[in-house]
Amino acid sequence: MARLFNPIQVGAYTLSHRVVLAPMTRLRTIQPDDIPSPMMADFYGQRASAGGLEIVEAASVSVQARSYLGAASIYHDGQMEGWRAIAKAVHAKGGRVFLQLIHGGRQSHVEMTGGVDPVAPSVVPFDGVALTKDGFVPASPHRALGIEEIPAIVEDFRAAAQRAKEAGFDGVELHAANGYLVDQFIQDGTNQRTDAYGGPIENRVRFLRETLEALISVWGADRVGVRISPSGEWGGISDSDPEATFSYVARLLDSYEIAYLHVIEPRVKGDDTLHHDHPPVATKYLRKHFSGPIIAAGGFDRASAIATVESGDADLVAFGRHFSSNPDLPYRLQHDLPLTPYVRTAFWGGTEADYSDFLTHEETQALESTEENATADEAQNA
Ligand SMILES: Cc1cc2nc3c(=O)[nH]c(=O)nc-3n(C[C@H](O)[C@H](O)[C@H](O)COP(=O)(O)O)c2cc1C
Repeated sequence: MARLFNPIQVGAYTLSHRVVLAPMTRLRTIQPDDIPSPMMADFYGQRASAGGLEIVEAASVSVQARSYLGAASIYHDGQMEGWRAIAKAVHAKGGRVFLQLIHGGRQSHVEMTGGVDPVAPSVVPFDGVALTKDGFVPASPHRALGIEEIPAIVEDFRAAAQRAKEAGFDGVELHAANGYLVDQFIQDGTNQRTDAYGGPIENRVRFLRETLEALISVWGADRVGVRISPSGEWGGISDSDPEATFSYVARLLDSYEIAYLHVIEPRVKGDDTLHHDHPPVATKYLRKHFSGPIIAAGGFDRASAIATVESGDADLVAFGRHFSSNPDLPYRLQHDLPLTPYVRTAFWGGTEADYSDFLTHEETQALESTEENATADEAQNA
């Protein structure tokens, strides 16, 4: 059997297969307070499998960290019951579930940040978007963080990690990808600081180290993962030498012995596939620098997922879009069953429709045989 369907140790947990749910912000919290909704618990419960790993969509660690109206947050008591329901739904099926923690940094708008300017390591021209009640709008002008403000943000990450623990999650993932705040510090296109947080890579990873150490202080390193996107373009992010930068990051993360390194491959920008036949490359060079489990994500199908794990470049594969429309994706991949196409128009907000109403393969078959029987009955009665 392909290694993709074999057990693996990921930090503190023994997983029974390597098909992971990638974090996907689906904008279905209850407003105005970003309360995780019952349909979110349904969504994650449906996608859980015994010994499988899910990474729950990015949750903002503070008001200032928010980017998109309807996206998740974890910074106040009113949100806790919703989070508990999600962790419980996954555990009921024997799954493991990590929560991704995010600060959006400059990818935001004053309407999302409580009326204050979005923050970033440096002020660099940016034409990205945020999502407010008026839809996707240009991001507000941002300001550079004062060095004295940084400890409070690190503390927000720690407090959110603590909340995730209280809600019953199995671990947390630091969102250091896709051009959000941690990534803005790492990459030199967005970090032009001249203090201890900018300049050489040793300084540009200082914010990553501090937030990571905050999460580890709550969870232990074996229950913390980190997501990076070395070739990412989302959020206007760029670096003058991504391979050198992210090789350094991978070595650094290796030294902490975290549960896993989660790498977005270069084939996707946000939710769009850019290069259809582009081979995965980031894990190829990162593998040399990171000795723990690597999760690869971005544009995988069954064949490429099996191949990347067989090659040893990655140990697990996270699926986003295919998992959105196939709640039993690990089962379907294992048995080479057809996939239900995903529905892009339902990605960013909406109801249960095309979100938590997708059927498993078994349910589809049961429905088809009921329909066939009904047709046969009708024919008999005609
Ligand atoms: C609707 C949607 C929301 C997403 N939200 C997040 C997110 O909250 N955090 C994150 O790290 N990546 C996010 N992503 C990226 C996915 O995790 C994944 O890397 C991407 O979809 C590529 O994988 P795929 O080709 O299997 O879909 C999102 C993608 C989609 C389609």
